[in-house]
Amino acid sequence: MRVLGIESSCDECAASVVEDGHKVLSNVIATQIPFHAAYNGVVPEIASRKHTEWIYAVVKEALDKAGMKAADVDAVAATARPGLLGSLLVGLSFAKAFAWARDLPFVAVDHMLAHLYASRLDQAFSKGEEVSAAEYPFLGLLVSGGHSIICKVDAFDDITVLGTTIDDAVGEAFDKVSKHYGFGYPGGAVIDKLAESGNARAFNFPLPSLHKGDHRYDVSYSGLKNAVINQFEQFRALPAHEAKEIEEANIAASFQRTAVEILARSLFNAVQDTGLHTIVAGGGVAANSLLRARLAERQDLRCIFPPLELCGDNGAMVAGIAYRYLERGEASPLTVTASARVKA
Ligand code: KG4
Ligand code: ZN
Repeated sequence: MRVLGIESSCDECAASVVEDGHKVLSNVIATQIPFHAAYNGVVPEIASRKHTEWIYAVVKEALDKAGMKAADVDAVAATARPGLLGSLLVGLSFAKAFAWARDLPFVAVDHMLAHLYASRLDQAFSKGEEVSAAEYPFLGLLVSGGHSIICKVDAFDDITVLGTTIDDAVGEAFDKVSKHYGFGYPGGAVIDKLAESGNARAFNFPLPSLHKGDHRYDVSYSGLKNAVINQFEQFRALPAHEAKEIEEANIAASFQRTAVEILARSLFNAVQDTGLHTIVAGGGVAANSLLRARLAERQDLRCIFPPLELCGDNGAMVAGIAYRYLERGEASPLTVTASARVKA
C-alpha cells in the first residue's frame, strides 16, 4: 500500500510517499527558513501563505519522485495537530480534498506520534521494520522546537507522558540563545556546528533543580536560557577578532553540554524507575550530535535515532504512521479539523 503523507504544521512544506509503512519512495521537504530568518523565528502568517503557494508543487514532486501519478496513491494522510493552526489547515485541507476527489481512505495524524514513528522508516543500514516494531514498551524522547517529552511507549499510538518541560522546549532554548547572540536561525543546527570548535567546560551554566519527587522526569530550560543570555554583555564587550570567535564557540559548546545534560538526567531517571532500556528518539533536536553521543555512552541502553533527514519535520513519518492505522482498518472522517494543541 502506497500512502501519500503531507506535513505542514510549522515552516516545512513536506510531502512523501511511503510503501507499507516503512519504504520511503520519495521525501520532499521545501523549507521556508529563508523567509523567516530575517525575523529570527517562524512568522505564522508567512508560514501559512507559503504553504498555500507551495503545497501543490510539493505534492506533485513527491509523486513524480516516487514514479507515480495521483491515480496510483492508495491512501492520503496529513498532520492534524499540534502546530500552527493556519499552517496545519493548508496541508490538512489539501489532503482531505485529494482523498475526497479520488475516494481514498484518509488519516489525520498527530505530529508528535509521527516524530516517534520516524525511526521505523527504512534506514541506511536496516529496515525500519527491524528497528523497533517488536520491542514495545520502550521509552520515547520527543524533542523539537515546541516539545520536550519523555514518555513510555506501548504502541505506535499509545504513549504515556512521564515528563515534559515546565517552561521552554529544548529546541526553543537553542533557537532563543542563537537569536540573542546573532548566531543564526534556526539555532539548533547552528549551535551544534559552532560547538564543535568550542570548549564545553568554558562556562558552568546551571542545571535546574528538578531532580526529585513529581519532577523527576521533567525538564526546564528557562533558567539555562537566561543564564546564557546574561553572558551576552561580556561577550559583546569583546573586540571583534579571534577572541570573539573563540568565545562564541565556547558559549555554544557550554550551553549545548548543559542542554543535553538536562535531558539525559531526566531520561536516565526514567530508565532507572521503569527498567526500560530501549529509547527511541524523534523530533528536530534528535539530530543533535552531542545528544546522540551522550546517550551512546550508556552501553546498557539501546538508543534508536531516526536518520538525520527524518529528525525534523517531514511527510514520510506522516505517511508511515498512517499505514499502521489503515492496517488496523482505521481511517479518519473528512470532518476532522486541525488543532494547535496536543491531544488532551
Ligand atoms: O521537529 P522540528 O523540525 O519542528 C518542530 O516540530 O518543532 O524541530 C525543530 C527544532 C528547532 O528548534 C531546531 O533548532 C531544532 O529542532 N534542531 C536542533 C538541531 N537541528 C534542529 N537542535 C539541536 N541540535 C540540532 N542539530
Ligand atoms: Zn516537528
